[in-house]
Amino acid sequence: MGAAMDALTIRRPDDWHVHLRDGAMLRAVAGHTARQFARAIVMPNLSPPVTTSALARDYRDRIIAALPQGAGFTPLMTCYLTDHTDPDDLARGAAEGVFTAAKLYPAGATTNSASGVTRVAAILPVLERMQEIGLPLCVHGEVTDPAVDIFDREAVFIERVLIPLLRDLPALRVVFEHATTREAVAFVSEAPDTVAATITPQHLHINRNAMLVGGIRPHLYCLPVAKREEHRLALRRAATSGSGKFFLGTDSAPHPQHAKESGCGCAGIFNAPFALESYATMFDEEGALDRLEGFASLHGPRFYRLPVNEGTVTLERADSAVPPHIDAGGTALVPFHAGERLGWRLRG
Ligand code: NCD
Ligand code: ZN
Ligand code: ZN
Repeated sequence: MGAAMDALTIRRPDDWHVHLRDGAMLRAVAGHTARQFARAIVMPNLSPPVTTSALARDYRDRIIAALPQGAGFTPLMTCYLTDHTDPDDLARGAAEGVFTAAKLYPAGATTNSASGVTRVAAILPVLERMQEIGLPLCVHGEVTDPAVDIFDREAVFIERVLIPLLRDLPALRVVFEHATTREAVAFVSEAPDTVAATITPQHLHINRNAMLVGGIRPHLYCLPVAKREEHRLALRRAATSGSGKFFLGTDSAPHPQHAKESGCGCAGIFNAPFALESYATMFDEEGALDRLEGFASLHGPRFYRLPVNEGTVTLERADSAVPPHIDAGGTALVPFHAGERLGWRLRG
C-alpha cells in the first residue's frame, strides 16, 4: 500500500462505544451508525438507565425498530451498573445473549450518570461474577472528587480506582472507554491482554485549545474533556500502533444544538455520520492507512470474543463536506467536523 493509495477496502467495522439514545433522537441517529458499522456496543445511560436484562431487551427491540429497512446492523447491549445491580440478572442476561458487557459510570461523572456507582466496593460481588463468566466491564474512567482538576480526573482514576480494582480482580476483562491521556495509553499498553481501550475520533483530532482558544466551542466539549496536545499525540500513536489493545469506539453522543449552546452545555460530541471518514483522515495523516482495518474491524471483535464481520466497506480518497447541521426529527444536531471537509468518503 503506497502513499498514492486512493481507495481502501476493509472488513466491515464496528463501533465499540455509541450512544443511540431513545425515542425521536434514536430514530434520527440510528441510521447514521448503521450506515457505517455492522455492530455497536450501545451505552445504557438513558433516563431512566438500562439497569436490568428486561430493560435491555426492550431497548434492543426499540433500536431494531428504529433502523432503516435492511440495515443489517446488530446492537450489542450493555448493563448500566448501580450500587444495587443484581449479579444473577446480569449473568442471566449475559448467558441469554442480551448483555455483551456492563458499564461502570462513577456516579456523577458524565451525562445521565446520577444513578451510577458511588463506590466500587458496593459492586464487588457483581464484578466478581463478571470476572468468573468473562463478561467485559466498560469503564468511564474519571474520578468525581471535586478536589481533582477536570483535566486530571482520568489519570487519577487509573491510580485510585483501576489499579486497585485489577489488583483485586486480575482476570476481569476491562475496556477503558474513550481514553484521552498518555497515562491511559501507558496503563493499557502495559496491562495484560484482558485490558483494552477505545479511542474516539475527537480525541485523535483535537486538543483542548480547539475547544477554548478564540472563543468557547461547545460542540467540541465532551467527557472526558479533550486534553493537551501531548495526550492527543499519544492517542494517535496508540491508535496507529497496530496493538490489539486499542480499537474504535466513537462515543458518538448526540445532544440537541440548543442543549449544547447553553449557559450549561451538555457534554457529548455527535460524530456518527462521518466517523469512518474522520478516523481514515487521521490514519492517512499518520501514514498508517494499512492499520485502519485492525483498529476498526479486527481488534474489537478479538477482545470481545466475537467473530469478525462478513463483507467489506470501501473508503475512497475524495472530498467529504460535513454539513453544518443534521436534522433529528425537527431538532438540529451539530456533527463533529461541522462545516469542514474530510479527505475520505465511505462508498455506498
Ligand atoms: C456521553 C453522553 O452524552 O451520553 N457524553 C460524553 O461527553 N461523552 C456520556 C459519556 O460517554 O461519558
Ligand atoms: Zn463516558
Ligand atoms: Zn460515551
